[in-house]
Amino acid sequence: MNILVIGNGGREHALCWKMRQSSLCDQIFVAPGNAGTSLIAENVPIGINDFDALGKFCLEKDVDLVVVGPEGPLVNGIRDFFEQNALLKNILMVGPGKIGAQLEGSKDFSKQFMIRHHVPTAKARTFNASNLTEAFDYISTCKPPIVLKADGLAAGKGVIISLSQGEAKAVIKEMLVNKKFGEASSKVLIEEFLNGIEVSVFVLTDGKDYVILPEAKDYKRIGEGDLGLNTGGMGAVSPVSFATPSFMKKIEERVVKPTIEGLIQEGIDYKGFIFVGIMNVGGEPFVIEYNARMGDPETQAVMPRIKNDFVDLLAAAAKGDLKGKQVEIDAHHAVTVALVSGGYPGEYKTGKSIVGLEKDVDALIFHAGTKKQNNNVLTDGGRVLAITGKGNSLEEARAQVYETAAQVYWDGLYYRKDIGQDLMNYKG
Ligand code: AMP
Ligand code: GLY
Repeated sequence: MNILVIGNGGREHALCWKMRQSSLCDQIFVAPGNAGTSLIAENVPIGINDFDALGKFCLEKDVDLVVVGPEGPLVNGIRDFFEQNALLKNILMVGPGKIGAQLEGSKDFSKQFMIRHHVPTAKARTFNASNLTEAFDYISTCKPPIVLKADGLAAGKGVIISLSQGEAKAVIKEMLVNKKFGEASSKVLIEEFLNGIEVSVFVLTDGKDYVILPEAKDYKRIGEGDLGLNTGGMGAVSPVSFATPSFMKKIEERVVKPTIEGLIQEGIDYKGFIFVGIMNVGGEPFVIEYNARMGDPETQAVMPRIKNDFVDLLAAAAKGDLKGKQVEIDAHHAVTVALVSGGYPGEYKTGKSIVGLEKDVDALIFHAGTKKQNNNVLTDGGRVLAITGKGNSLEEARAQVYETAAQVYWDGLYYRKDIGQDLMNYKG
């Protein structure tokens, strides 16, 4: 099969790395890719939302399977675009259509979906600028912390947790009236705060059947000890010690099955990933959010633990043929650490020369924000590399990843040294 991966992050590098191992895989193209993907696939300079150019490219190169990495093209309707074109409609695609992608694209849509299908989630109410007074009245009845969520996509920044009613009122006004997140905050959810520990659960579905991939835990804050600003993700571990078989069973029964059945009932033909952000509240799962894609950096910890031929699984999902497939999971532990540019998630510099990449290491080095210039690899984003260590224990995997991270350098390099540490002595 010829495969086109859309995206340019560490997630896409890890997907390519895994698909490259498949006997079903001929050529892999990545639009637009990064310096890492160019080592194992062919980068093509097409933007992720340029559907016309992506479609033409698929026809020119006989692409059989398109794997959409990020949410943007899904929410913008890349599947609908392909399905509506007589020449493109038979190309297999991993990723839902515009309506299915609303599970991620609109937090109001996903909240109403969860309510309709009895999926456990935090209580919430949605407001817009025309009912700000009602929003204020509602906030007056809420016990802090109060969670405010912009309805639309806000690059991971749209959730604000307020510690007082007064602060929540100021924030919601900022969001609704001053459009803090643009159109994304024209509706805002006021949500009950869930106190617990999070786990990311990844489902691959063909719209009827599903498989559950290895779970992971993401570390979102920039600072050690989970302090400081939110980022796209500073690291991930898989497996997650508190995601025991009995907890995962609860997630499957109470969340995954009703979600898939809900999609079927509503006539939403969903072929792709559903990444469910789960809060473990005293041993009970609650859905924090749905995403219509894999996580980044979770993918970099999850892929090395899947033993299956991944192209076979993806093609089955895209064809509607997942029935009977099972995911075989490697018992090893994986720990991924994101190496970022100094200043991220605020302002940072790019174009710094990365040294140490040529060394022979045991860990896997996935590129995120990198580009090639002559024979150099330069930094080209906030999250620059994602390194994954593997081992028989979390400790071994941590030792491997940090040994490799210490061999890489650029001016301004920063990473968290505590990824996975909380789970080494976590007592549920
Ligand atoms: P989201 O963009 O929905 O993933 O939210 C970003 C982060 O905010 C989540 O990963 C949680 O850590 C936190 N969060 C979101 N909703 C809640 C909630 N209801 N209670 C507590 N924390 C939340
Ligand atoms: N790591 C969180 C995400 O991909 O949304």
